[in-house]
Amino acid sequence: MEKYKVSDCAIVEFDRHHSDRKGNLTVVENGETLPFNVKRVYYLYDVPGGESRGAHAHKKLEQLIIAASGSFTVTLDDGKCKRSFFLNHPYKGLYVKPGLWRDLNDFSSGAVCLVLASEMYQKEDYIRDYDEFLKFVQSK
Ligand code: TYD
Repeated sequence: MEKYKVSDCAIVEFDRHHSDRKGNLTVVENGETLPFNVKRVYYLYDVPGGESRGAHAHKKLEQLIIAASGSFTVTLDDGKCKRSFFLNHPYKGLYVKPGLWRDLNDFSSGAVCLVLASEMYQKEDYIRDYDEFLKFVQSK
């Protein structure tokens, strides 16, 4: 399994289809706009101000994280370096490689965090203990 760094993750910008005075539309399509095929979609919402989500790593899962509404910050950590990304546009997504710890915080009121995931939900793919995460990255 490959070992990824926070520098391997980046914000991807998608096309916006403008419709005069009727808003915008953005498409994310398997095989076209994404580096992986989406098997699952979930979204986080009603996160109270000051609360954090995440606090885990995935062993294999890849994700694209989009601020579908509002804004929040995603901080990625590869065990050596941390990097924070502020997401506040529905036409931009953060591509998160496997094996990185993530913390989500600074949710604005009404923020919706849309996550496109490369795998079905598997409890065994999660690392929720930070020391265990450090051992996992050092063992690679
Ligand atoms: P979790 O991944 O810990 O959320 P976050 O990283 O945003 O804090 O998931 C929260 C709860 O939801 C946990 O009990 C597992 C459950 N869950 C599912 O059942 N299926 C899923 O696809 C996801 C992402 C979570």
